[in-house]
Amino acid sequence: MDRYGVFGNPIGHSKSPQIHRLFAEQTGQALSYEALLAPLDDFPGFAWAFFNEGRGANVTVPFKEQAFALVDELSERARLAGAVNTLLKRDDGSLYGDNTDGAGLLHDLLDNAGVTLRGKSILLLGAGGAVRGVLEPLLAQAPAALVIANRTLEKAEALTRAFADFGPVAAAGFDWLEEPVDLIINGTSASLGGELPPLAPCLIVPGHTLCYDMMYAATPTPFCQWAADLGAQTRDGLGMLVGQAAEAFELWRGVRPDTAPVLEALRRQLGAA
Ligand code: ATR
Repeated sequence: MDRYGVFGNPIGHSKSPQIHRLFAEQTGQALSYEALLAPLDDFPGFAWAFFNEGRGANVTVPFKEQAFALVDELSERARLAGAVNTLLKRDDGSLYGDNTDGAGLLHDLLDNAGVTLRGKSILLLGAGGAVRGVLEPLLAQAPAALVIANRTLEKAEALTRAFADFGPVAAAGFDWLEEPVDLIINGTSASLGGELPPLAPCLIVPGHTLCYDMMYAATPTPFCQWAADLGAQTRDGLGMLVGQAAEAFELWRGVRPDTAPVLEALRRQLGAA
């Protein structure tokens, strides 16, 4: 049976094994997929050992940049993201690296939530790896404006410079933001500590602005709660997680799984937990 897995550290709570098991069932593909705790001090050694027999893997925190450095060939979107979340061992033994995070986000926004981004104003919070990974795919949707706001302004400015050729992107500090926007995407890791970037309520048009948190949780994240209290529409990142997995599955197996029933199952399970 073809072997797949997800490399991370920690990895215990990963939902990827369940997602890929459901995809495999749904599409009738025979494969195994397991969560693998990779050592912090030798990610390359661990990865190459796995690929003695493994066919593909997902990569999560904190190894996406190391996976980027490891591969023989990068997809264009992985090159732009500066990170790899999907590895594929080719028949000639070489390792191919892709990044499906941006496609996962777009799948959730466009196909599941039914929004269009052309001509819209987008505010992206954060300037770390999570944000870098989704910048080019978002700009490819031709928004009217995309502002990257970050606590450390220089990091937002550096991203702005790196992606200036792809669309109308600008950098800001949180306290500069005053104009209402169509879409706010939280790509900071603030939710992990139960925190929230300092945002002005006037950014939100009640009943119109969509606030999307790349994180997800059983109960609303602090960002989604803040947004809901102001009358915004909210959505967390569970659909993005399933979407990036579907893209990886398609790369490995050549079949596109239906994400809707899998997202539904995960949501039910999260609610019951
Ligand atoms: P990731 O790969 O998940 O993006 P990262 O590269 O460490 O992780 O980036 C984390 C992002 O969350 C950064 O933009 C960080 O802001 P700084 O660049 O100023 O560090 C942001 N972040 C983390 N905690 C935050 C908080 N409490 N409030 C606002 N932003 C926060």
